[in-house]
Amino acid sequence: MAQAVKGTRDLFGNEMKWFQKIEDTARRVFASHGYEEIRTPILEELEVFKRSVGESSDIVNKEMYEFVDKGGRHVVMRPENTAGVVRAMIQHKLLINNDPRLLYYIGPMFRYERMQAGRYRQFWQIGAESFGVASPESEAESLMMLFAFLRELGLKHLSLSINSVGTPECRPAFHEAIRAFFQAREAQFCEDCHRRIETNPLRVLDCKVPGCQVALEGHPLITEFLDEASQKHHDRLKALLTALDVPFEENPRLVRGLDYYTRTAFEVLSSDLGAQSALLGGGRYDGLVKHLGGPEVPAFGWAIGLDRLAMLMQQLHGDAPQSAPALLIPLGDAAALKALTLARDWWRMGLTLQLETRGVNLKKALTSANRQGTRFALLLGDGELEKGIVAAKDLQTGTQEEWPLNEVASRLRE
Ligand code: HAM
Repeated sequence: MAQAVKGTRDLFGNEMKWFQKIEDTARRVFASHGYEEIRTPILEELEVFKRSVGESSDIVNKEMYEFVDKGGRHVVMRPENTAGVVRAMIQHKLLINNDPRLLYYIGPMFRYERMQAGRYRQFWQIGAESFGVASPESEAESLMMLFAFLRELGLKHLSLSINSVGTPECRPAFHEAIRAFFQAREAQFCEDCHRRIETNPLRVLDCKVPGCQVALEGHPLITEFLDEASQKHHDRLKALLTALDVPFEENPRLVRGLDYYTRTAFEVLSSDLGAQSALLGGGRYDGLVKHLGGPEVPAFGWAIGLDRLAMLMQQLHGDAPQSAPALLIPLGDAAALKALTLARDWWRMGLTLQLETRGVNLKKALTSANRQGTRFALLLGDGELEKGIVAAKDLQTGTQEEWPLNEVASRLRE
């Protein structure tokens, strides 16, 4: 029997319902903050990610689904969406007048990673990107929106870690310090780190090999190498978050696995997620638009793992609310026709209910309704037709009432 490809999965039932609830909440909250949706293709040219996420990053080096298509193009199934959004902004000249632009996206990403709970090869992200503003205020605004969204979902036990990774100008001195530190304990580092120290020393800091983590004890911190403007920027953001009652902790070791960050970098962890505790990450990427061939436009954004969010919702709130709380069950031919017209009218009124159209007997219909967790079975037989009512059976309590047809809508809304 054919199976879904390793690392991918089908979404249905409860998980799908949580996905929908999360996506609906995101769209509502983001729209209220002035963000517009953007959808970019899943396939992008290889160069888009090589030049942005970085050739020395694990994502580009080890995890990309890349292939040559039938036309000989070297393409990638996007491992993330920031680079694609920037590519689209440049292609459509959406940034040339220097007005701020606020965008969000929801969609699948692909990384050839080792499978674990909460880590997949096809996973979903919800992301928000803000273009055109370099101020710490724009970061505070974006983070406020993020926390408004997480609050609406009722999430708890979250911690925000922030750091400044400085600008490309303060990196050379830092890289030199890391190299000197590395050389003094070279033998303790893995083969990948030996490559990373040459190509991008920052990447050594987020090596996941336990031995490298031990060897990194006491390594130089990027925060010791910040230029004055970056330091000021960082201090201002911290002051804003404090004034806005957004709790955070400083983590000078936080560097993140993508190369495009400048100044602010952050992550939100959830203690309820186990080993894969990173729920989301993001930061400032002031150089990326220019680097990919666009104008000089500062930017800031983040992306949250939808799979992990849905997992948390399930842990925290249990099963997602039933989508259809009622099932209309006609008994007999006359009732079957009447049920179709009644259901049509109720749907037009915006009610949520399902219709039994199999023509099965009452016992069978009730058994299915119970299995699906339906709350009310609305029975419509010849007797009910004559009286202009439905017999409403509450499947939770087992009680039954007569509801006049013109009261069904208001009763279900209750
Ligand atoms: P990222 O940290 O690579 O950042 O991914 C963001 C989130 O996506 C992670 O915190 C995690 O929840 C989720 N995620 C990543 N990989 C997987 C996986 N294999 N399975 C399940 N969930 C996963 C970015 O992608 C940046 N583009 C974020 C950003 C936007 N920075 C600026 N703007």
